[in-house]
This record gives sequence, C-alpha cells and structure tokens, in this order.
Amino acid sequence: MCKNPVSRMSSTSLLILYGSQTGTAQDTAERIGRQAKRRRLNVRVEALDNYRVANLISESLVLFVCSTTGQGDPPDNMKNFWRFIFRKSLPAGSLCRLDYAVLGLGDSSYPKFNFVAKKLYKRFLQLGASNILPLGLADDQHDLGPDGVIDPWLVEFWERTLSLCPPPDGLTPLREDELLPPRYVFHFLDDVTDSPTTQSDVLDTERLRPASKANPFMAKMVSNQRVTHASHFQDVRHIEFDITGSNIEFSAGDVVMLRPSNSSEDVEQFCQLLRLDPSQQFILSPAEGETVPASLPQPCTLRHLVENFLDISAVPRRSFFELLNSFATNQLEKEKLVEFSSAEGQEELYSYCNRPRRTALEVLTDFPHTTSDLTVDYLLDLFPEIQLRSFSIASSLLAHPNSIQILVAVVQYKTRMKKIRKGLCSNWLASLDPAQEEVRVPLWVKKGFLKFPSDPDSSAIMVGPGTGVAPFRSALQERTCQGKSGNVLFFGCRSETKDFYCRLDWEKMKSTGQLTLFTAFSRDQEDKVYVQHRVKEQAALLWDLLTNCKAYFYIAGNAKEMPTAVCDALKEVFQSEGGMSANQAEDMFNAMEKAGRFQTETWA
Ligand code: 2AM
Repeated sequence: MCKNPVSRMSSTSLLILYGSQTGTAQDTAERIGRQAKRRRLNVRVEALDNYRVANLISESLVLFVCSTTGQGDPPDNMKNFWRFIFRKSLPAGSLCRLDYAVLGLGDSSYPKFNFVAKKLYKRFLQLGASNILPLGLADDQHDLGPDGVIDPWLVEFWERTLSLCPPPDGLTPLREDELLPPRYVFHFLDDVTDSPTTQSDVLDTERLRPASKANPFMAKMVSNQRVTHASHFQDVRHIEFDITGSNIEFSAGDVVMLRPSNSSEDVEQFCQLLRLDPSQQFILSPAEGETVPASLPQPCTLRHLVENFLDISAVPRRSFFELLNSFATNQLEKEKLVEFSSAEGQEELYSYCNRPRRTALEVLTDFPHTTSDLTVDYLLDLFPEIQLRSFSIASSLLAHPNSIQILVAVVQYKTRMKKIRKGLCSNWLASLDPAQEEVRVPLWVKKGFLKFPSDPDSSAIMVGPGTGVAPFRSALQERTCQGKSGNVLFFGCRSETKDFYCRLDWEKMKSTGQLTLFTAFSRDQEDKVYVQHRVKEQAALLWDLLTNCKAYFYIAGNAKEMPTAVCDALKEVFQSEGGMSANQAEDMFNAMEKAGRFQTETWA
C-alpha cells in the first residue's frame, strides 16, 4: 500500500487539468474551478500542456476534463501530456498516491465517442492512481447538452472530493451568486497622449521570432475569390496570403492558424451597451496564478480588446449566465438568470441560446439592466478568448513560394433568429478586400497530422470531398514539383458546374499525366454518387497500388459519415480484390494505419 491517508487528509488542494479544442472543456474546467472556490478549496486550473507532468507524483487529487476531437484524437493543448503519459517506460504503480477523476466531453454521433477520456481513465488506473468515482461521459447529443451528464456527475464528485479534502475549519461555502474576485484588474491610463498601441505595432517589433500564437505574422491578403457558381447555395473562397519576409516554412499536410476579429458593428454595439470608451488604454494586473494572455499587448485599448480578443459572437455557455447572475439586480432579469444558471433550467437555456445559436452580444441586449451594471474588470471572466481557427494549407511552397492558400466555406445559416447566423472567421475572411493595402491577417503555421510519403516510389491515394481536398492540393503540388508519380485523387462535390473546386489545377495535372482523378458529383443525377462509390469502382487499381506501389491512403473532410463510409469501402476492396475475410480486411486496415499508410484529417 503506498497511500498515505494522513498527508492526503491534510491537503485541501484540487488540481483541475483540461484538454480543450474548441473551449468547451476549458470552460467546464474553469466553471468547476469556481465551484471549488465557492466550496473554499484550494484549486488550480490549467491546460494539460501547461502543466509539468512530472509534478503529478506530488499531487493528491486531480480532475481531468478532456474532450475528444476528430477521429478520437486528443485536443491540441494536451498532445505533449498524451505522449508522456503513454510512455512504456512509466512504471505501473508510479502514481499510487494520486486520487483522480475523469470527465470526458464528446459527441456520440461521431466515431470513437469520448475515446480520450476513456483511455486516460484506464491509463491512470494502470499507473496505480485511485479513481474517486466512475468516468463521466458527457454527450453533446444529450437532450440537455453536455450538462445533462455533467450536473449529476458533479454532485457525486463534490461529495467525494469534500470527504477527501474538507475545507479548512470554520469556512462556510459561498453563495452561488456571490461574486468571486476577477481574474484581472484593469488599470486605465489617464495619459492618452501616447498613441494607442496596435497589434501590428507590437508584433512588427518582434518579427525576428518565428510566427506563433503570441507573435503572428501580419500577412497581406492577395486574393479572395469565390470558387462556387453564383447560383450555388454555398460561398466557398480560395484565399491567398503573401508571406514574404515571414520565414514561415511548411510542407504538405500542415495547417495555417488564424485569429479572426469581431466586426466593427459588433464592436461598436458592445461598447455602447457596456458604456465603454473604445479609445481608453489599460494595463491588466492578473490575480495570483493568472498571467496576461500572450496575445494581448500591454498597454492595450478597449477597442483592441473587444475587436481582437473577446469572443462576443459565440453562443455563450452556462458559466456566462452564472456570472451575469452575480451582477443582476433587476428582478425580472435576475429570475431568468437564476433559472439559466440552475441545473433545472438547462432545457430552457438550451432552447433560448443553443438552438437558435444566439450570440453573447444578443444575450446582452436581452438583459440591458444587468449589462449596464457589468464591471469592466470581469470582461475576461465573462468572455472567452476568440477561438483560433485552423485551415489545411492548399498550396505548396515549391509551387508557390511566399504564398499560403486556403479554401474556406463561408458559414451562414438560418435559425429562428431574425438575423442570419454567420461563422465569425469565415465571414470575416470573406469580408476582407485584398485591394485595400492595410488589410492584414494575423497567422502562423502548425504541423498537421497528414504526412506524405518521402519514398519517391510510393503512391498517394487521396480522398477529399468538398474543402477536404485542400491538403491534397498542397500534396499534389509538392509531389508533382518533386517529380513523384502515382497520384490518385477522389474528389466529390454536388455538381460539376457549381462546386468543382480547383478544376483547372486538376485538369492541368491530368493532361501532363501527373494525376489520376475520379470525381463523384452527388447531385448531377438522380441517385447520389459519393467518393466511397468511386473507391469501390476502382477496386482493382487501388489494390494494385496498395500491394505493388507501397501506396499511402488518405481521407480529409467532414468528420460525420464520410470517413467511416470510405474506410468501409476500402475494406471491401481488400475483400473483393485480396480474397480476404472481413476479419482479415480489418487486420490489414489496422496494419496500414499502424504503419502510417492510412491517415485522416477530419473536421466538424
Ligand atoms: P450531398 O450534399 O449531395 O449529400 C461535398 O460536400 C460532397 O460530399 C457533396 O457532394 C456531398 O453530397 C458529399 N457527401 C455528403 N454526405 C456524404 C457521405 N456520407 N459520404 C460521402 N460524401 C458525402
């Protein structure tokens, strides 16, 4: 037995570590952190990759809050932790002093539901840690959203946690709507004679460092072209950035990261509602354990903060209503906010907010009294940072030096709200005019998951319907410049005349014998034809490439049904051409995946 109950009981420290891709797991972790503070516990909340994993050995109680992305992958901000924790060299009982709990956030309509949380839970058992309660598996598909699982799970979590780490004697819990201190205090600079610092001023002085989140390259947009027919329902853009002087390097499969901005109308409306003077400058002083976000210049203007940092156009989460509730004095507004903050009010909140995709800014206009009482110090508690967006790069430096090109589907849809719902990043990009000299987009590049074969004799079979074709355009440009042959592309779209992206590129490569192209135009005939149908039709060719030309197989695109359908089609090819049983086909598929010869890049 390596547990030491005495030392554990004397500690009142809870560590909450999160792995979050879109911010939901982070928000949940921070919300649980605030609940811990109300229960008078010492609590730290950190992203998994910001935490020194070796310190786990001296922790007493850890809660992991992790989402699962893509095809069962861990979020980006826990990738290093993931690699570390699965090292074979870690001894089996090494964490036997640790108590832990795991709360997973997932969506059961995607393959490998909550895979990361499940795997983490098992791994910590193997490492000797003790689970204080069964794994929590929140599901976006639950009638009440993830909170339908999280709320009851947390009741049990607090029971167990408070019995293991009781708060110091004499301290009573805080009320649910009692304001906790803000994470940052704003100090306004009275002396406004200095010209306000803009993002580009700050960034350009630091250009010698490689482009990164804290130090993006301010790229000039050189083209922004619609590539779908004017009569097509969807606006898809081919956008090109000039990266001359950036020192940015990338290869096929890599992704470009962008930070979008709020529209000037939204910024103006927000400042009016909260009675902010956009030109006012401030410096943030962080509370203990907090650091000023690297992407916020100091000093900073309120305009810069609202335009480039606060996510005011996302659908607000429950924590937003909990905090608003702490400010509410108007009786009607208070009643609503109490309801939206409670476990019982989640169905109501879901239909008010999530179903119509109401934005935080719109919510503020529904609660005018509370909004006008908000204190500026709480802005960073109320609004999360604008999410970075990643796009697969659709060009190669070998073919287009100093250029990054992407394909962007402009997200717009209707709900019962009067105003059309618009995705922040894609609409912001689409609105930018390359002819305007001052238009700059902050960007940097990250390694992607797709790796293309370096062996010149290996073929590449690529399946990329819709904007899924983007990384394959990059790979095809790179491979053709390197003189690599054996390039096969399956492209799918609705109609040959309406959304056949990059058609001229493919035709040029075809005409020089560098590309074998198969197309599936789903709506150009009565019955739907999809890429997986074309894969099955080309069984003999694919089998030949896979068995005689060391072919690699790639899928990119929408994560819902397409990747699974294409995988199934491939396994059918193994059976029909290789004379395999279903089990043998499955084994061959797994072996290919393990050897890196089957790869996917999918997005929601
Ligand atoms: P659809 O919209 O006509 O159903 C790019 O979006 C292409 O992917 C479109 O032609 C779209 O067809 C198609 N698509 C939709 N669902 C798919 C699925 N489950 N498998 C493969 N392709 C799909």
